Amino acid sequence: MTTAVHFYDHEPTEAYSLSMREDILKGLRGRPKVSSPKYLYDQYGSVLFEEICRQPEYYLSRTEEAILASVVDEIGELAGEQLSLIDIGSGASRKIRLLLEQMSISNYLGVDISRDFLIESTSKLATDYPWLNVHAICADFSKRIPFPVELTDGRIVAFFPGSSIGNFTPAEASAFLAGIYHALPPGSALLIGVDLIKDPSTLEAAYNDAAGITALFNLNLLTRLETELDAQLDSGRFFHRAFFNEKHSRIEMHLVSTVEQVVAIAGETFQFREGESIHTENSYKYSIEGFQTLAQRSGFTCRKVWTDGCGYFSVHYLEHQG
Ligand code: TRP
Repeated sequence: MTTAVHFYDHEPTEAYSLSMREDILKGLRGRPKVSSPKYLYDQYGSVLFEEICRQPEYYLSRTEEAILASVVDEIGELAGEQLSLIDIGSGASRKIRLLLEQMSISNYLGVDISRDFLIESTSKLATDYPWLNVHAICADFSKRIPFPVELTDGRIVAFFPGSSIGNFTPAEASAFLAGIYHALPPGSALLIGVDLIKDPSTLEAAYNDAAGITALFNLNLLTRLETELDAQLDSGRFFHRAFFNEKHSRIEMHLVSTVEQVVAIAGETFQFREGESIHTENSYKYSIEGFQTLAQRSGFTCRKVWTDGCGYFSVHYLEHQG
């Protein structure tokens, strides 16, 4: 790691594995069995996710990137100069480079739960943009994000791309947005990408790529259970399933048991019926109005929204007007 990155560790590994263990076991004791999406993003999961973003069926990333590229000047005008950019769930995206290169940004703060991945990507940014003041926080953004105080007194734009907001339930999303709103000073903004409701076949294809990367991404949870929670299981007895649930307006991702089986995880046993699943992730889809209502309820003012020509994806500029 280069010394150029100011690093803050808010999820020390040991405490995190303890809470992961409790959280996973609790989710598996319930009916239906569930697991929080954040456990999909370990080092390998984060690499696979980058790979998902390059799949032809996964229109989300490239559509969002194209929208951003075409409106970055407008965003720059709305946001002003000498900004601090807070990249929530930073990953290794190219979208951030677009903003860094075309807006007036002095400070960058990456927030991600995947520590090594975060350090690697922020170090690269520090090398490639020597003028940029680079900070990194290893933290679980679904809890309160501990923003370093030195960054919160200027103008801030928080960036939450990739429709990650859709991985929360609407109630969680609203609490998350309200949390961001209250953490940011008046005058700041949230630039957020939100995937839109569309025909189910397009949606379902995006989460069932032909190359099988999303399947690997989902099945990687089982590998984590084996290596980190001492699970005794055969991952060949589970398969990836993703489908659009119209009633809840969400893609659901599951790991389905192919047989009736018992698996041991962290010393506890869990029964699976044939066809029973672990529900590993949701990806809620919104209408523009539906999302704006949610954002307004959390305190934000919807200043501007952009979409692509097909109306597949939306990018919202939300203001904290104080
Ligand atoms: N934010 C991404 C999305 O909602 C996360 C994601 C990638 C995902 N692949 C997934 C969510 C598969 C559910 C299923 O698209």
